[in-house]
Amino acid sequence: MNKRENWKSRVGLILATAGNAVGLGNILRFPSKAALYGGGAFMVPYFIAFFLMGLPLMIIEWIIGKYAGKHGHGSMTGILGLFFKHASWARVLGSFGVAIPLLICMYYIYIESWTLGFAFLSLFQKMPIPMISDNPQEAVKPYVEFFRAYTNPSITAYTFLIITLAINWLILQRGIVKGIELTAKIGMPAIILFGILLGFIALSSRDWAGLEGLKFIYNLNFSGIKDPKVWIEASGQIFFTLSLGMGAIAVYASYVKKREDVVKAGLWTAGINEFIEVVIGASIAIPAAFAMFSAVAIPELAKEGTFRLGFMTMPAVLMNFPLGWLISFIWFLLLFLAALTSSLALTQPLIALFEDEMKWSHTKSVTVSMILITIGAHLSAFVPNFIDEIDFWAGCVMLLLFGLIEIIVFVWIFGINNFYNELIQNTSLKIPKAFVYVIAFVSPVFIVLITYFWVIKDFTSIILVSEPTKIFARIFLLFIILFLSIIAVKSRKIVLKDLRYLKVITK
Ligand code: TRP
Repeated sequence: MNKRENWKSRVGLILATAGNAVGLGNILRFPSKAALYGGGAFMVPYFIAFFLMGLPLMIIEWIIGKYAGKHGHGSMTGILGLFFKHASWARVLGSFGVAIPLLICMYYIYIESWTLGFAFLSLFQKMPIPMISDNPQEAVKPYVEFFRAYTNPSITAYTFLIITLAINWLILQRGIVKGIELTAKIGMPAIILFGILLGFIALSSRDWAGLEGLKFIYNLNFSGIKDPKVWIEASGQIFFTLSLGMGAIAVYASYVKKREDVVKAGLWTAGINEFIEVVIGASIAIPAAFAMFSAVAIPELAKEGTFRLGFMTMPAVLMNFPLGWLISFIWFLLLFLAALTSSLALTQPLIALFEDEMKWSHTKSVTVSMILITIGAHLSAFVPNFIDEIDFWAGCVMLLLFGLIEIIVFVWIFGINNFYNELIQNTSLKIPKAFVYVIAFVSPVFIVLITYFWVIKDFTSIILVSEPTKIFARIFLLFIILFLSIIAVKSRKIVLKDLRYLKVITK
């Protein structure tokens, strides 16, 4: 049996899981969603979703992750298996919790490679020269063209994709402590430092005109509360930013030491993530764009999506500053570090599947995982619509459903009392039983309502597509699920044999 690694220190464990959660979602996706859905109007459902759904699911994933780690499992395939005596159906269901992060990683890592590429292009002063214009469309134009040419994809883009894949490969090969934990220990403080620096630059620019941007986000009001779309987007953001609903937190939690207080660790993870989202993330992109262009331009700019804000609007704004190339470099470096600590986490469930269930060696597990991701990253780079299609199915729909499955299995089937016992056994904090009822009843209702309003209501228009590239993406997605299901069933025998062996030697 492979010996499972443990995180070396408490700080390392918290930084690594915070690095898991903190990513492009905090610094790019959050500000563009907040701006698009009315700033303060978005923030009310956002905070409600955080407390009613985000925090409970975060704690669930920590508890079950630790519980499963004690039994030698880290991936959702093994975890769901563990709860149902390794029945095939449970292991197949768990495969979704490996498929989701794997599929997301396939495009996430490609976007990560843009951030590295743009960081270098900024540093070597190869970014377009800024146009002085109050008209945002005009000012952003050179950067739009630049971005289009880059992601065509250009040779530069391809080179940085290969470099990014190699960096991830190398770190993962070094394992939990020397790879992931070490990267987080360096990366997380750098992210916070660069984030505060950029936030200060953005807020103070043009005589603190940037502050208006922050006020826009925090102009809390209830005008969005009746609009299902705002709720859906706010909840989707909570899932995405906290890395929930796909077993990505659980796999990190499975490497904790026996005595770790996982509830505290969960609170720390959520706390650091929210700080980097609603304080730092809110202080950079939107304030910078506010300072440069007028307030009316913001929703317009945000409408064109997350990539537009990060890779086109932001360089157009930042390059206008004195030493603009340097500020733009720091911006993209910040994005790269945030993305890197997340892409490592997106790959780990697959590695854990191979190591814990198939009993493969670490090197073999990492190699096969990275080959799959390399293939997926190429599809993201070369097949049009691939990113959007996978993002929609794996990054939104499957994620909500798997979040629901987590609650049903780990709270309802495991039993509310058992879950509560597991919860209080693992922490020195006094947790009222009411909290478990919120997890058991409020969170699932929340998820069901959101899924209903968002997916089921216009299901036919979502299902029917005619573009061959979209159909290809869906077939690919099914193929990945099938592949992981076969592994789930095949590895069952290996796990059961191991269990019998353990029984014999402990008799
Ligand atoms: N939380 C990450 C971000 O904010 C994205 C993400 C979603 C993620 N699910 C994940 C990262 C699972 C790692 C593992 O960008």
